[in-house]
Amino acid sequence: MNKFLVFEGPEGAGKTTQIQLLKARLIQRGITPIITKEPGGTPAADAIRAVILDPKLEINPLTEFLLYCASRAQHVNEVIKPALEKNKLVISDRFYAASIAYQGYGRGLELSFINDLTARVTQGLSPNLTILLDIDPEKGLKRVANRGQKDRLELADLSFHRRVRQGFLTQAGNNPNWVVIDAAQTETEIANAVWQSVKKALMEVNDV
Ligand code: TMP
Repeated sequence: MNKFLVFEGPEGAGKTTQIQLLKARLIQRGITPIITKEPGGTPAADAIRAVILDPKLEINPLTEFLLYCASRAQHVNEVIKPALEKNKLVISDRFYAASIAYQGYGRGLELSFINDLTARVTQGLSPNLTILLDIDPEKGLKRVANRGQKDRLELADLSFHRRVRQGFLTQAGNNPNWVVIDAAQTETEIANAVWQSVKKALMEVNDV
């Protein structure tokens, strides 16, 4: 299969639920995907995740970006590349587009710097398809608030999260390998839209 799919979106877009629904649909058709996430995805990267998201820590934007890069470098080497080499279908809950949206558009780090370091960290690996579950941050953050204690990123103000959303939409507009799905729809409507785009992306290699 050797395909790499990524889910992105502002806070509370419903990525986790949709990835699980997609996984079930794929398994029904005989495809067992490798499901992974960023930040995290390996023991070392999970430890880095705990630092990044800790609401008690003050972390400046550059440090924050470097921590995401550290997590990503480990994740690419230990999980994503080996799985693709074994011809697996890999689905990641976030990848480098999140750094462009959050640390670039959100925190204001230079995009060229993010892109340069990202190329090194990912060894040039980029997703075959990125699914953006798009949601108004106000709505998304309300969903997140119902889940309990907020992490360090969720605690950032609404204007930050608006810039992040814009960062995702701009990337989607500039890249033919992205699809944008309205995450304010029902779970089933979103799952069907996800399935249509995934089917299209996989069609070239497999009769799904
Ligand atoms: P999650 O809530 O999707 O698990 O992601 C954790 C948080 O990390 C979320 O607020 C998005 C943020 N994030 C970045 O700011 N930059 C990144 O590169 C990644 C992967 C996530």
